[in-house]
Amino acid sequence: MKKVLSGMRPTGKLHLGHYLGVIKNWLELQEKHDCKFFIADWHALTNKYKQTDDLKENIKQMIIDWLSCGIDPEKATLFIQSGVKEHAELSLLFSMITPKSWLELNPSYKDLKFNLYYQYLRDFLAGKQVKIIQTPPSEDFDQAVERASGKVRNKIFEEYLREAFFRAFYNKKGIDFKGLKETLIKLGIQKKIVEEAVKNLEEGDVGKDIDTLGFLAYPVLQAADILIYKAEAVPVGEDQLPHIELTREIARRFNNLYDSIFPEPEAMLTEESKLPGIDGRKMSKSYNNAIYLSDDQQTVNKKVLEMKTDPQRVRRNDPGNPEVCIVYDYHRIFTDKDTVKDIDKKCRNAEIGCVDCKKILAQNLNRFLDPIRERRKEIEKDLPTYEKIFQEGTEKAKAIASETMTEVRKAMRLWEF
Ligand code: TRP
Ligand code: SF4
Repeated sequence: MKKVLSGMRPTGKLHLGHYLGVIKNWLELQEKHDCKFFIADWHALTNKYKQTDDLKENIKQMIIDWLSCGIDPEKATLFIQSGVKEHAELSLLFSMITPKSWLELNPSYKDLKFNLYYQYLRDFLAGKQVKIIQTPPSEDFDQAVERASGKVRNKIFEEYLREAFFRAFYNKKGIDFKGLKETLIKLGIQKKIVEEAVKNLEEGDVGKDIDTLGFLAYPVLQAADILIYKAEAVPVGEDQLPHIELTREIARRFNNLYDSIFPEPEAMLTEESKLPGIDGRKMSKSYNNAIYLSDDQQTVNKKVLEMKTDPQRVRRNDPGNPEVCIVYDYHRIFTDKDTVKDIDKKCRNAEIGCVDCKKILAQNLNRFLDPIRERRKEIEKDLPTYEKIFQEGTEKAKAIASETMTEVRKAMRLWEF
């Protein structure tokens, strides 16, 4: 039995990707370990401080989503970060002993910037009618640049765009805007459009929002979240590993400087869900391709009907290839093994039509979601009662956090009130 802690930023309703990637894992952990799960609302502020109108609503949605999935307050302590002010105190004290360079070198910080810039570039080009094509090309990137040189096509493979930007972003200390411009033009996008896009990136506001102290100190707050409960294991996705490493470094530094009171927590790596969104891209709110845990039956039916299938299968009697079909990716997870086998065979022999295949999937998805929907209905009928669970959880967490803080103040020889 380990002390396990994890948190989630309240950024909106949860979808199937969150369920398979995170919640499913938490459901297993709560059976075996001493778990604390919390809503990291202060962390949501680090990049969303300008739009706080929906923060309360997002926290509510998160409460409903967690509980309706079966995250159980009898088994795990559930709380809201901003209710335990001690996190802020510990974060402040940690900031005294954390070298700035540890934060500036943090890859997650750079990656977030990368994503913001890249997303902007992508959207800008799409807005200028540059076609961005999803299917990854088989060709090597450098060869592709060579071959495309000079031809104006106004059409680019997403993989190439990403690669071009990746090189511009990570090869040098700053961003190599000049190199980026040259590569994109070589790849066949109109010079005028490229110049405008890159100029906006260089001089515009993209990414400036997160040039704040709070954002830079994000991992310090996260270290405080974890260490204040002396957690031993932290289930997180791969993107969070640098934050856990930093937490360990801060713990070590504190223990060396003062008294040894903090354990060095381990990351418990959670595999990211590979389930694509209905258009085949990564499932994400921003791509508008997600199936939400709160979607009703009709919405799910509609989304399943919209799913991309094997593009080679145009007519009903064309044989299909389930390996390249999104519907099939879903069947693998939500349909029983025998039926999956059967579909595989019938698809390859053109014995089943895509619409029928989708109907089976929609049924199974709805069967999976139904119990969650039932619980959601119960919870929504009496939300204050369920919010109280989080109030009580917050009190419980606070009791532990304040004990640790007494130890911390003592170790640091601070004034004791
Ligand atoms: N940074 C985490 C994320 O974006 C959320 C988080 C905040 C967290 N504090 C935490 C996760 C402490 C684990 C432990 O996913
Ligand atoms: Fe995909 Fe099913 Fe159509 Fe085959 S029959 S292409 S698995 S939707």
